[in-house]
Amino acid sequence: MQRIETISLTEADLSRAVDILNTGGLVAFPTETVYGLGGDARDGKAVARIFQAKDRPSFNPLIVHVAGIAEAKKYVHWTDDADRLASAFWPGPLSLVLPLRDGHGLSPLVTADLPTLAIRIPAHPVAQKLLQAFKGPIAAPSANPSGRISPTTAAHVHAGLDGRINAVIDGGACEVGLESTIVGLAKHPTLLRPGGIPVEAIEAALGHSVDRVVTSESINAPGQMRSHYAPQASIRLDAQRPRENEVFLGFGPVDADLNLSQSGDLVEAASNLFSHLHTLDRTGQPIAVSPIPNRGLGRAINDRLQRAAAPRSEG
Ligand code: TXA
Ligand code: MG
Repeated sequence: MQRIETISLTEADLSRAVDILNTGGLVAFPTETVYGLGGDARDGKAVARIFQAKDRPSFNPLIVHVAGIAEAKKYVHWTDDADRLASAFWPGPLSLVLPLRDGHGLSPLVTADLPTLAIRIPAHPVAQKLLQAFKGPIAAPSANPSGRISPTTAAHVHAGLDGRINAVIDGGACEVGLESTIVGLAKHPTLLRPGGIPVEAIEAALGHSVDRVVTSESINAPGQMRSHYAPQASIRLDAQRPRENEVFLGFGPVDADLNLSQSGDLVEAASNLFSHLHTLDRTGQPIAVSPIPNRGLGRAINDRLQRAAAPRSEG
């Protein structure tokens, strides 16, 4: 695999960072919480590269960063509680989970195909300038390899991701040093992850209490909510060819109804996964899927396909 150049950027070089984002590349940037690993949230391949760079074994939903409230409202259904929390804490270390709007234009990989989106307006001046210059939504998990601690300096990002991303903007040490607080507003207000803003401050701004989800399972693995990922149709994995009556989701140089990647490119395959599954599911026929190599992004693709293929008892 080609070694990716790593560049340090100063604030004056933001146009270079914007060029990288516009061409599907990855730029780590400082926020007030931790350094984020940013990619264009509308570009499925850029989002797939985020998962690849972090070497995540599954597709967790990512937080989308925007410059202002008007932009947030383009992607999610807004509520009164969202208004209260946004006026109190944005820009700042708070992420809100709200229902996705139709026609949002984001890659389905960003939300791991959930019907909700985690969104935030960061306060860090470099993050703000980057978002204003890019004029679009930036998907950004913490800029660390999967399973390692979150980076609070550009040096941490270099240590973890050197050679795997295009650039890091060095904005010094992060002030908060702890990830954003995540509040779910899609249903009853719920604390989904404690973080930079204490829950008491959230409750004071809302004028009422919030539910607390404290198990790390439910926070970090919404993939366990199997029903979100399961197509209506049955799925058969590791299929060399379809049986009569099945539609075929191919990978590599095979004759198929839809192909995740004819050339066997796992980044392309990940970016097509959810949309192809939805398209084939609409045929109402069972879906057979080519074998996907279980390396790199292939592990996350297989994880999701196995969930979709698992027998389901719950709704
Ligand atoms: O401070 C932060 O939030 C940093 C900076 C870079 O903004 N970002 C960050 O992202 O911590 P990440 O990917 O490391 O954590 C995102 C968390 C995950 O636990 C994920 O499960 C949750 O947000 N999440 C994202 N979308 C969600 C959704 N629609 N519903 C529930 N949880 C969601
Ligand atoms: Mg993280």
